[in-house]
Amino acid sequence: MRTIKLFKPFVSWYAVWNTMQVLRSGQLAEGPRVKEFEEKIEQRFGLKNVLTVNSGTAALELAYELAGIGKGDEVITPILTCTATNIPLVHRGASIVFADIDRDLNISVEDVKRRITPRTKAIVFVHFGGNNRGLKELLDLAREKNIFLIEDAAQAIASDFWGKADFTCVSLQAIKTLTAGDGGLLVCKDRTLYEKGKRLRWFGYDREKKQKLGDTDLVEAGYKYHMNDVSAAIGLGNLKVFDKILAHHHKLIQAYKEEGIMAYPWFALVLVDNRDELKELLKKGGIDSGTHHYRNDQYTIFGGRKPFPVMDELEDKYLLLPLHMGVSAADVKKIGKLVRDFNEVSKSN
Ligand SMILES: Cc1ncc(COP(=O)(O)O)c(C=O)c1O
Repeated sequence: MRTIKLFKPFVSWYAVWNTMQVLRSGQLAEGPRVKEFEEKIEQRFGLKNVLTVNSGTAALELAYELAGIGKGDEVITPILTCTATNIPLVHRGASIVFADIDRDLNISVEDVKRRITPRTKAIVFVHFGGNNRGLKELLDLAREKNIFLIEDAAQAIASDFWGKADFTCVSLQAIKTLTAGDGGLLVCKDRTLYEKGKRLRWFGYDREKKQKLGDTDLVEAGYKYHMNDVSAAIGLGNLKVFDKILAHHHKLIQAYKEEGIMAYPWFALVLVDNRDELKELLKKGGIDSGTHHYRNDQYTIFGGRKPFPVMDELEDKYLLLPLHMGVSAADVKKIGKLVRDFNEVSKSN
């Protein structure tokens, strides 16, 4: 029986061909393909000030650095997200203020409002599964309060509304909708901060100056976060078919909605009692499902569990369902039927 995985990398033949060429070219490190990838991303998504980096986590770390987040600064972030959203904040000694979620698993705008204090330096909006609900309201709120809004758009490249905040961080990791094997994008609203980010991703050097003049002074301590040409070649090859990927994801979102299932650009999701039983039933039908991300306050590094009413209610109920290039509309119909049958049996018990 065919098994549909919860997540599956999609690599186009263009990406295979591009990568072979780069591997034989003698230029594997950051070079012309990285520059081309940045330009093509800007063109495709109508963006300015795009920096490629070697992971979504690196994009977040750079965004936090450029926003000047340091010891004791309060940063409001969702309780349910990938730990990569929050680990860089621990490194900077920031004070993480978790906000509860709503029933679509995205951050609760109302709870964010309650948690703002004079020490709030930034709000992190995570497009959970690519869901952008709440972004508009938080953009307005951050502007009104004069604090940074940082978009963790790691899962959101196939969404129609991202790249609007002071900083936007995208992941191009293996199972993301657009993959470069591993990699990320940092989009900066401010040109000066973009220039600084460009230096910081490469130890703190201005690379162009260094190439012209030889060794130049370092006045800022940066990181090794730049992308290489191999990743850029994969990214470019996949970007070439991105419209096809996007159309397929949108077809699946529609198919899930017709089955009464919530669906976003990167996964679909159901809320059920007896989650493990549904997971088992789906597995017998060849469908992988899972939780993937967990409430972050369960980890000691983030300070331990606290009450969050919606998170408390949903933590054993949410189950993510596959939405990628290896899933067809007919598969979604089958998933819809399994979920319906499960709910009917659960109701009658
Ligand atoms: C919400 C979120 N933020 C950040 C990241 C980190 O991205 P990367 O794995 O590219 O470092 C991920 C990765 O899955 C994610 O889902």
